[in-house]
Amino acid sequence: MWPCLLAPIAAARLAAGELVAAAVLPHGDFAYDPSLLVDKVERLAAQKLHYASQTAGRFVRTADPATVFLTTPHGLELSHDFLLYENPTLTGFAQVGEDLGPDAKTYNVSMTLQTDEDVVPKLLANLQAIGANVTGLEGFGMGMPLPISWGEVLPLSFLQDSSTPLNYRVVVMSVPYRRYDEDVAMAEELRTMGGAVGKFLSQLPGRVAWIVSSDLAHTHRADGPYGFCSCAAPFDAAVGDWMSSLDPEALREATKHESAGAKSCGYTGLLMLEGALNELGRDNWIPSMLALEAPTYYGMGVATFEHIDSVVV
Ligand SMILES: *[C@@H]1O[C@H](CO)[C@@H](O)[C@H](O)[C@H]1NC(C)=O
Ligand SMILES: *[C@@H]1O[C@H](CO)[C@@H](O)[C@H](O)[C@H]1NC(C)=O
Repeated sequence: MWPCLLAPIAAARLAAGELVAAAVLPHGDFAYDPSLLVDKVERLAAQKLHYASQTAGRFVRTADPATVFLTTPHGLELSHDFLLYENPTLTGFAQVGEDLGPDAKTYNVSMTLQTDEDVVPKLLANLQAIGANVTGLEGFGMGMPLPISWGEVLPLSFLQDSSTPLNYRVVVMSVPYRRYDEDVAMAEELRTMGGAVGKFLSQLPGRVAWIVSSDLAHTHRADGPYGFCSCAAPFDAAVGDWMSSLDPEALREATKHESAGAKSCGYTGLLMLEGALNELGRDNWIPSMLALEAPTYYGMGVATFEHIDSVVV
């Protein structure tokens, strides 16, 4: 606001608006609630994911963002365009336990989010101006909330302190459902979209965290709903490499396995985040892979990406 009155370094520090942190968080039931699994080995794997997700959530809270940008593969999905949620309030619930099958006992985890109404229209205009495939959605005359569910509620639950509700404004972006057939073909578009979003967010006055709602390969087991692919384990391993190194080669390797049938819903969000971190200088980010497990037929991974404050010498 008053940069001319301050020493340059202090001004730079005050202008703390930037992408300060990023995390990949699972939305699978078992990372949220490992006790759903009775098998000891499965439950232990789920517990690792659960604790890692809590750690990642604390990491994001500590970065003290004003706004959380979330990419979701399981929100409201348009056929072709990426979607930005415009309603001031988003609310809904995840039915936890559904991953055990249609007859399983479930319980509801509900959440209400406040949209960052300042950021969303600007981001939309910014992306449309560069010709991105993106559309905004206003529902019900903006007077009622837009719905959210497991893809949004479960990852963001890890950002929540048990005692206090989420106090961030959110920007929710969902990936179009052409991803089911075209995710690999969309790779360049996803990176470009992520880069444009990252650049925009990094120029905001407020601090922003980027969350990828993501599970990994869904073809780990022959008795799972998507069957078995020998590409599932190598897909998850390649994503794990990327989470520990940010090596672009690792995501190219993951792309090969996704193309072979890994069936990862979060693949698209990982590429968007890669685009953003690349745009903002991948050397400015410290990646940490906190967990990588496949307790049942689908894999999950947890990672954090810490921004090195290049301003402070
Ligand atoms: C979860 O919420 C839905 C919608 O309100 C409701 O139909 C369902 O019975 C709830 N499930 C449980 C286990 O409470
Ligand atoms: C928009 O989507 C089409 C595919 O329908 C694609 O060919 C085009 O490259 C996309 N635009 C951008 C800017 O990525």
